[in-house]
Amino acid sequence: EKGTYPHFMLKEIDEQPFVMRKIIQKYQDENNHLKLDGDIRRAMQTCDRVYIIAAGTSYHAGLVGKQFIEKLSNIPVEVHVASEFSYNMPLLSDRPLFVFISQSGETADSRSVLVQIKEMGHPALTITNVPGSTLSREADYTLNLHAGPEIAVASTKAYTAQMAVLAILAVDTARAKEIALDFDPMQELAIAANAMESLTDQKETFDELVRDNFGTTRNAFFIGRSTDYFVCLEGALKLKEISYIQAEGFAGGELKHGTLALIEEDTPVIALATQENVNDSIRSNVQEVAARGANAMVISMHGLEQDTDAFVIPHVHELLTPLVGVVPMQLLAYYAALHRGCDVDKPRNLAKSVTVE
Ligand code: F6R
Repeated sequence: EKGTYPHFMLKEIDEQPFVMRKIIQKYQDENNHLKLDGDIRRAMQTCDRVYIIAAGTSYHAGLVGKQFIEKLSNIPVEVHVASEFSYNMPLLSDRPLFVFISQSGETADSRSVLVQIKEMGHPALTITNVPGSTLSREADYTLNLHAGPEIAVASTKAYTAQMAVLAILAVDTARAKEIALDFDPMQELAIAANAMESLTDQKETFDELVRDNFGTTRNAFFIGRSTDYFVCLEGALKLKEISYIQAEGFAGGELKHGTLALIEEDTPVIALATQENVNDSIRSNVQEVAARGANAMVISMHGLEQDTDAFVIPHVHELLTPLVGVVPMQLLAYYAALHRGCDVDKPRNLAKSVTVE
């Protein structure tokens, strides 16, 4: 039920810190050890490459998941859009492990890949919000997102839950492989949950940002580098699916290779800057678009802010910045849709679970 919320989407955005805490609780025992199914641990330990298969928002979570698994557990990862996989099937490694990421567990494009790779005899793990769903039943292993029912068509809490569970999977694998980590992952996740909460407590700020910068624009751009780029892809998808503003997320460095031509007076450009090593480069992108009249908005992480007009989000561990960086984007999309009178929870032409290919 929506309770006092005007829309499920807003309620689900607000639930994200609680979902993080629930995931920590579900995946940690009383001695603060991770409790993951031993079979999943062995599957991760014995594979020589992970193939992540997903669609839409879940694909965007997979892009971040690749970084977790490669950086923490040292296993190479490929991420594939489910509907494209069979057209150009990658050359598979000797011991592949397929990881399906799906909130609903019913996405037909992902299922057809699952059927195909099962016929080839490869193991599969499904990360889903619906244990018992088709993708969960037909895979060898399941990890539960514990996000609670997601009703709004636009995925919010399932996306952040997917990234959190992927981080836990990567940490568990690192531990099994005796790779030392120089931070306490569960503590960092708890810090990220608090950071998310401080953002959902500042909703009016995003409402105002939309009023001040979006006007009647027909298009908007999200720019970021490194991990922020993946979050920008998700920010653009959120905005377009519920507000019908044409939105594009791209790597800051690609701006000068074409997209800069589209920047006009008052075009909204949202720049995400949460990574120290790309902070200066993304700032110069912001200057480039601002010089052409764009309404540039910088979302910066505490400690990296340079502009007085940047919206500053709390500092979290550098691997976990997507969990926090996406919240402003979800809220911007929400208010943009609201101000345009769109049906926030049920955008036109879209279904919550896409059971046709
Ligand atoms: C966007 C959105 C979709 C889904 C996609 C995959 O907000 O919800 O892009 O992410 O249809 O759905 P699942 O995760 O159920 O496989």
